[in-house]
Amino acid sequence: MKRILVTGGLGFIGSHTVVELQNEGFEVVIVDDLSNTTLKVLESITEITGTRPTFHQIDLRIKNDVKTLFKTLKVDGIIHFSAFKAVGESIQNPLDYYENNIGSLVYILQEMRDRNLDNFIFSSSCTVYGQADELPITENAPVKKAESTYGNTKQIGEEIIQETCKAHQLNAIALRYFNPIGAHESVKIGELPIGVPQNLIPFVTQTAAGIRKELSVFGDDYPTIDGTAVRDYIHVVDLAKAHIAALKRLINKTNKQNFEFFNVGSGKGSSVLEVIKAFEKASGQPLNYKIVGRREGDITSAYANTTKANKELNWKTEKSLDEGLASAWKWQQRQ
Ligand code: WQD
Repeated sequence: MKRILVTGGLGFIGSHTVVELQNEGFEVVIVDDLSNTTLKVLESITEITGTRPTFHQIDLRIKNDVKTLFKTLKVDGIIHFSAFKAVGESIQNPLDYYENNIGSLVYILQEMRDRNLDNFIFSSSCTVYGQADELPITENAPVKKAESTYGNTKQIGEEIIQETCKAHQLNAIALRYFNPIGAHESVKIGELPIGVPQNLIPFVTQTAAGIRKELSVFGDDYPTIDGTAVRDYIHVVDLAKAHIAALKRLINKTNKQNFEFFNVGSGKGSSVLEVIKAFEKASGQPLNYKIVGRREGDITSAYANTTKANKELNWKTEKSLDEGLASAWKWQQRQ
């Protein structure tokens, strides 16, 4: 049984990926510092799959703790989710973002180099494209100067991995996520935003649940179908399965370069107002919202051309926006 280390494996995307890894027969070791999740997620994963992943609570910013972890841990692959990911917070707090998102990445790659470990999957983001000139966005779109420290840590992360693959024959894949939404069908795991949600869907579901008074729609003067910004919302389970496909590509050595990257999205763009309408249909709940000014740093429109992942990873999204919204609502009602 191949053993896979999943850093940040108790997070939103991490936990859904651990479930799919176990479903595929992998042995999973989770490392998480619990800074943005709780141990309850470990129990929930165990309830879903019947197998309790090995868990180590480790802060990957502490080099010695990373070295100690790898002294006794032999793995066939690593999926690296651990990172701070709040765009606005990253601009207020750049140094903590560089320390965590870049520092932990470097320490893990150093251990892979020193212990001849291979097969690294990196959690990247469509943010690296900024506002792409052409839509849908292909992997040939240029990486643009990041609008946030968070986005910059993803760009720098990809560069660090690319150079490491070249210098040390490491094999790695970066998955550039679009907007992950929804929850596992068991309704035992889902998105757990701490504090006021930054992302659209958790704010929508908390508004529908009466936790938030109303949703502020950040701008309706964009050059889009209805003036509100367009994004590519992908079901988190589809996103999790893309990690399995990428991991198998590396383990089976069918990758074509040492370092590869893929857009992972649904391929469909939806405006904020379209999402609101779809949510009201999916939940049967009217949503309280008001149009306000644009949010600093937001781009007009982003949605993926997924041809490369479809072809090379033999992967495509199976769930619709409606299913994503319905599962997010079910999860919210469970809270
Ligand atoms: C989506 C749309 C907002 C909240 C960012 C990162 C990306 C990834 C996901 C971490 C935008 C609008 C939102 C609200 C609104 N990061 N909105 N009212 O900004 O596309 O992507 O989060 O995982 O890397 O860049 O996602 O969900 O914040 O916003 O109108 O209360 O919803 O303006 O158009 P975003 P988002």
